[in-house]
Amino acid sequence: MINMISDRLKSLTKYVDKNDVAIDVGCDHAMLDVYLVKNNIIDKIIVSDISNSALEQGIENIKKYNLVGKVIPRVGNGLEVLNDSDNVNTVIISGMGSNTILEILNNKYIYNINKLIIQSNKDYYLLRKNVNKMGYNIKHEEVISDNDKIYINIVFTRGIKKYNEDELKYGTKNMINKELYYNCLIEEKERIIGCITDKDLISSLRQEIRLLKEKCK
Ligand SMILES: C[S@@+](CC[C@H](N)C(=O)[O-])C[C@H]1O[C@@H](n2cnc3c(N)ncnc32)[C@H](O)[C@@H]1O
Repeated sequence: MINMISDRLKSLTKYVDKNDVAIDVGCDHAMLDVYLVKNNIIDKIIVSDISNSALEQGIENIKKYNLVGKVIPRVGNGLEVLNDSDNVNTVIISGMGSNTILEILNNKYIYNINKLIIQSNKDYYLLRKNVNKMGYNIKHEEVISDNDKIYINIVFTRGIKKYNEDELKYGTKNMINKELYYNCLIEEKERIIGCITDKDLISSLRQEIRLLKEKCK
């Protein structure tokens, strides 16, 4: 076992299955992928980054941990680095905003993808709504706190399911550690209330706070 990645990255590893044919887009140092292969969670994985210099760090780590041929680096934009013969069915994207993630998923290879393992740090409504529209269900959701920042891991799998606005906005009912996220939202809304005088807006923010407190129970 090697144990040299952040808890944030490690939280993603439980969603990876041995039979997945996967790509980690925006791998940067590729340590998530080194961890996955070194710990026999997966046999091999394609890793990509749009930045040559980021990927160079990844290549250094691949060499350092003797994983040449098992962690396969490609430089380029999103899923554009894939070929038909890769047969990738799983995409991992972590540490990016939802807009960038959605741009990456807007690619012809998305039709072969059964599982998306996503870790975003903002715009979750946009992410859930658009990925659901692309024909995916939410299978797992988990809130992660790392260096005082909140991330949400969302695993999407193929399927048609309709979510209500509340679920798209605040997450599905099985979301793990939801209190972490809701408390952040509550703090943010209280901060805004302290800075404004518009009574209607204050009342609607208070209503949202009540709803979030209710959801924490
Ligand atoms: C903040 S880092 C996250 C690295 C790692 N995934 C993690 O979670 O620690 C984002 C990385 O994504 C890369 N990136 C951003 N947009 C990309 C795109 N369209 N295609 C591939 N890589 C991209 C950046 O160059 C950077 O290395």
